[in-house]
Amino acid sequence: MKSVKDYIISIPDFPSKGIIFRDVTSVLESPEGYALAIDELNKLLDGVDYDLIAGTESRGFIFGAPLAYMNKKGFIPVRKKGKLPRETVEMSYDLEYGSATIEIHKDAIKPGDKVVLVDDLIATGGTIQAAAKLVEELGGEVVKMIFLIELTDLGGRKLLEGYDVASVVQYE
Ligand code: PRP
Ligand code: ADE
Repeated sequence: MKSVKDYIISIPDFPSKGIIFRDVTSVLESPEGYALAIDELNKLLDGVDYDLIAGTESRGFIFGAPLAYMNKKGFIPVRKKGKLPRETVEMSYDLEYGSATIEIHKDAIKPGDKVVLVDDLIATGGTIQAAAKLVEELGGEVVKMIFLIELTDLGGRKLLEGYDVASVVQYE
């Protein structure tokens, strides 16, 4: 029986020298790999009480949307700046390589909503921390953060101290 790690391809020096890129397209291309990834992520939600799932652009959409569908929850896209048509709140942050600004629709979350954040991967934790701040700015509560892949040496968990963080596979 294959594990999720068996479907992930690691590419050295992409997108820049010194980065080992953990590619999830090879997971998605396999029907068995994609199903296994979603099922394993879904297990991380066992016993979690939540109202909404939010996923971060773009790879967070691929894993977050199926989870929302199968659990009959709404899905909130956390998008890169300039893509959302209605009024938004925004936050800038640093990445393992570069920086970015993300946005969320102001009316997407109501005060008291319990939100699960989903992404394919946590590296420095900057992206998901920014997404969490946006949820909280709108009065929502981040009850869980789940990732298919965690890069443990990049300190994401430290940055996210106080949040309930879980991942399916880990790389140093
Ligand atoms: C990648 C990944 C996470 C983020 C993790 O997304 O999908 O969202 O980086 O890094 P961090 O923990 O250091 O914030 P990226 O911004 O490259 O965008 P993409 O999903 O559109 O490729
Ligand atoms: N996003 C940030 N760091 C990454 C990495 N090493 N592999 C894939 N996606 C990433």
